[in-house]
Amino acid sequence: MRFGVLISGNGSNLQAILDACASGAIAGEVSVVISNRGDAFGLERARRTGVPALHVDPAAFPDRAAYDHAARVALDEHGTDYVVMAGYMKLLGAEVLGAYPMRVLNIHPALLPSFPGAHGIRGAFEWGVKVTGVTVHFANEVFDEGPIVAQEAVPVLDGDTVEELEARIHEVEHRLYPEVLAAVADGRVVVEGRRVRVAAR
Ligand code: GRF
Repeated sequence: MRFGVLISGNGSNLQAILDACASGAIAGEVSVVISNRGDAFGLERARRTGVPALHVDPAAFPDRAAYDHAARVALDEHGTDYVVMAGYMKLLGAEVLGAYPMRVLNIHPALLPSFPGAHGIRGAFEWGVKVTGVTVHFANEVFDEGPIVAQEAVPVLDGDTVEELEARIHEVEHRLYPEVLAAVADGRVVVEGRRVRVAAR
């Protein structure tokens, strides 16, 4: 299974995925890493591992559809089977979603449908919830709305700073996303409408 990973920034989730592919925990490999931002550190992480790393700059295209087309072509050219958004801060367009039906995953640092959007960790922290967490879900044309594959709770502790909470959420992300991708690669993810099951190994 060849995963095309879309990023916009640091790429710590990408790193966890690269490591899990290298160790054999995921029976697959990363085909290509695509970032909408040229300064994303994740591109460097990919290059270090010998994985093709592309900056596909939205500013270089006349509109969203043209950008989306370029992303789809790059994914296809690298023999991608499955698309993984890992800190990709853009809505994916119809062409990529259509080319990879129910084969595009996203990770969100909150328990969806609570605290969608770009500030899931801070939103939950400032609301004062006692439990937040991590969600891995299929992407569709609405931000943070697609069928949920996996969720894990992370408690908000008395005295937590938002940075401390963030660190614990990232720790869970870095374990949960590779676990889900391992299940994808094994064919253990079973979709039944909005309900998705991950069968045991
Ligand atoms: C993660 O918290 C992810 O859930 C969110 O963006 C962050 C990306 O971090 N969508 P990184 O680039 O993987 O380090």
